[in-house]
Amino acid sequence: MPIPIIAIDGPAASGKGTVAASVARALGFHLLDSGALYRLVALKALQTQAGLDDASTLAELATLLDVRFTDGRILQDGHDVTEAIRAEPVSEAASRVAVHPAVRQALVDRQRAFREPPGLVADGRDMGTVIFPEASLKVYVTATPEERARRRHKQLIEKGISVTIDGLLRDIRERDARDAGRVAAPLEPAPEALVLDTTRLSPGDAVDFVLRQFRAITGGGQQER
Ligand code: DC
Repeated sequence: MPIPIIAIDGPAASGKGTVAASVARALGFHLLDSGALYRLVALKALQTQAGLDDASTLAELATLLDVRFTDGRILQDGHDVTEAIRAEPVSEAASRVAVHPAVRQALVDRQRAFREPPGLVADGRDMGTVIFPEASLKVYVTATPEERARRRHKQLIEKGISVTIDGLLRDIRERDARDAGRVAAPLEPAPEALVLDTTRLSPGDAVDFVLRQFRAITGGGQQER
């Protein structure tokens, strides 16, 4: 039996991370947060003052990443960087390091190694198009830029970080343009992906949609937790 993969792609703050984590939990599957890998390369680049346009140095950093995903925490070189990689400067730098084909190539095998029994939910931008083209189910999660800016604003305000919705909307549009406009593995739905617009959908409904689709494909044979 091949190990099933659910590929969940989409733009920043579309809700794909929440959907992917909840689906993985419901099915007892492993979870790949591929964006975290690009964020780790970006963090390392900022720490070592590597140029964000220096593709070969960045690719080397990507190859040498010492990372462990354990109990919901992310350790780099033994240090817990779970929160550090979510900071805005790292988000911006991650989107910039991700444009380099050499960096993307350096992360391919590391991502594919997450395919382990009983199954994998892979969250990213190119899971269904490049990393796991053979995925059993591909979902492209999206929402309007305005709704995504509103959600990000709420999250940041709750953390006590003061930002404006207009500023966030500008950042989101810039990041979308860079992620979708790059030559290597641009952000786009795979032709066979189901598009899930979460603008007016609760997280629970989005998760149910993916689980229903997966059950329809596997004939309901998968046990849910
Ligand atoms: O999903 P995220 O916001 O954590 O991703 C951070 C950046 O990494 C995003 O701007 C684009 C890049 N990325 C990518 O190019 N390919 C992926 N599979 C995942 C993320």
